[in-house]
Amino acid sequence: MRIMVVKSYHEMSKKAANMVASQVVLKPDSIIGLATGETPLGMYDELVKMYTAGIVDFSEASTFNLDEYCGISKDNPQSYFYYMAKKLFDHININRNKINIPNGMAKDVEKECIEYDEKIKSAGGIDIQILGIGRNGHIGFNEPDIKFESRTHLVNLDEDTIIANSRFFDSIDEVPTKAISMGIKNIMHAEKIVLLANGVEKANAIYKTIKGKITPEVPASILQLHRDVVIMMDEDAASMIGDSIYED
Ligand code: F6R
Repeated sequence: MRIMVVKSYHEMSKKAANMVASQVVLKPDSIIGLATGETPLGMYDELVKMYTAGIVDFSEASTFNLDEYCGISKDNPQSYFYYMAKKLFDHININRNKINIPNGMAKDVEKECIEYDEKIKSAGGIDIQILGIGRNGHIGFNEPDIKFESRTHLVNLDEDTIIANSRFFDSIDEVPTKAISMGIKNIMHAEKIVLLANGVEKANAIYKTIKGKITPEVPASILQLHRDVVIMMDEDAASMIGDSIYED
């Protein structure tokens, strides 16, 4: 596990964007695993800037998003499909046929999950996976007590996640209670993982992820076993881990 503590959200976003861009420069047909939520917004801004400046070309890359809410259509502004279009895909030259996001409106969710796993496999697996982390230690929507061997599956969102995500909705009653999420196994199979965290509300989850025991109660703790994971955070998110593991 490589721990990087940076001064600001801006610095974290720039460094994460550089990691994604380097991956694509070195391997233009990279398979990129993407997250939504507030944390990667700055990274997406930076990637759009890098594309606009001609530094990176996404034309051969493919993407797989971690998750999507159930019961929300693609054109709903609350959907992760809509989020990805507005924050990244509409501004870069990604091939629309190479964008993959679970279909939250699928009639047969089990089939949708199996097909999503198959698509990841036939694409050759994920080269770089970007993750955020929930206050409860979730990655993707793999909530506490997840089975570590899970692949893409239907999730009942944790109460804490529903409360945390209600900030994006007009009222808490509008927050979907179910989602389709890649599983821990999909995430752990990625060649490289970059987990981003900022803000003091992530400090406890980060502490348990890095220094706690590996347990399904803290889904992100499994990352301790991954061979190439970078946990990059601002000083607030790092505030509980102590000086000993500060890298810079
Ligand atoms: C989103 C996702 C979630 C978020 C996490 C943190 O695709 O998979 O695990 O990364 O809930 O969300 P923010 O960044 O909004 O704090």
